[in-house]
Amino acid sequence: MIENQRHLFDMPEDIAYLNCAYMSPLMNKVREEGRRGIQAKAQPWRLAPPDFFERSQAARAAFARIINAKADDIAIIPSVSYGISLAAHNLPLKPGQNILCLEDQFPSNVYPWRRMAADRGAALHMVTRAAARTDAGAHWTPAILDAVNDKTAIIALPHCHWTDGALVDLVEVGKKARQHGSALVLDITQSGGALPFDISKIKPDFVVCATYKWLLGPYSLGFAYVAPKWQNGVPLEEGWIARAGSENFARLVDYQDEYQHGAQRFDMGERSNFHLMPMALAALEQILKWGVAEIQQSLSAKTEKIARRAMEIGLVSATPKLRAGHFLGLRFDGGVPGGLLRTLAGRNIFVSVRGDSMRITPHLYNNDADIERLFSALKLSLAPPQ
Ligand SMILES: Cc1ncc(COP(=O)(O)O)c(C=O)c1O
Repeated sequence: MIENQRHLFDMPEDIAYLNCAYMSPLMNKVREEGRRGIQAKAQPWRLAPPDFFERSQAARAAFARIINAKADDIAIIPSVSYGISLAAHNLPLKPGQNILCLEDQFPSNVYPWRRMAADRGAALHMVTRAAARTDAGAHWTPAILDAVNDKTAIIALPHCHWTDGALVDLVEVGKKARQHGSALVLDITQSGGALPFDISKIKPDFVVCATYKWLLGPYSLGFAYVAPKWQNGVPLEEGWIARAGSENFARLVDYQDEYQHGAQRFDMGERSNFHLMPMALAALEQILKWGVAEIQQSLSAKTEKIARRAMEIGLVSATPKLRAGHFLGLRFDGGVPGGLLRTLAGRNIFVSVRGDSMRITPHLYNNDADIERLFSALKLSLAPPQ
């Protein structure tokens, strides 16, 4: 179990921030890396050609270790919508086939598929919450396996649902995808860095992850894994740095047909962002030091403690087997009371409401005092008026 790490963050004691699924705070050392990058841009004589390459390659390699992939299979992207659009740009889809998503899936992993299906005469099929419902919480995996058939060209999923953390067994879905020749595309933004994920077991085609949530990094940066079989594909942009020999700034106008190797051809333009990239790298290195499995174990202990306390005041959550350990969706009889979020925020307690759940997503900076603060405010808010 990893002990509390609040001292690494700029988080006053009277703040109970239980909302990592919305936006992670930055560790102090990550913020310092960002400042250093801005300073370098302010004095560009400090920036040399290797600065365009070294941090990007190190960040690519660090993200690869988090998902047990090779650095060569990782592209640098600005957002999930970009990464999913990249997958849609490269995967085949014929008229009459379908693409599978979950009901209420995050829109960046839905809109590119809606566009693609409309353009190709295909259909977007949403696996419904009703099909996944059980008394113990949403059990998506059997509902997804049931929905896949020979017409399923693409299965586009998260590892856990962004509204309440309901888990998908991606190893099982991967097997089913291969049986039917379906491509598997994953958005792991709500789990990457907090929930173990292994490319060699899941064998997906594309995986995308933004850095600003569980990777504890900056906004406007992300990574995409592209399976080797798709690495001869077409990038969304044709930038100079993705071409072979781009390290030689004097010869950039010797236009090249060849790309840099592996998934680098899919890198976004200006990927060598001098403040964001060092920030992402510092955060990834800290996550690797802690270990993703250890993070999951530590966060699971926190959410279980919260779930037990919640049950005492009549709030229900999915059984731990069906949800990711770093997520808790609390359901209220008759829906989340209007104004509750505002009342909690007024007491410096920060959570989210997504759908009909109050979403509580702690990280290693949360301590027992945060949990006490949450429950004393909830008890006050939910007490019947005198
Ligand atoms: C599951 C998931 N994917 C992606 C995103 C962000 O998408 P984008 O990078 O396109 O803004 C979010 C933000 O909440 C999310 O919850």
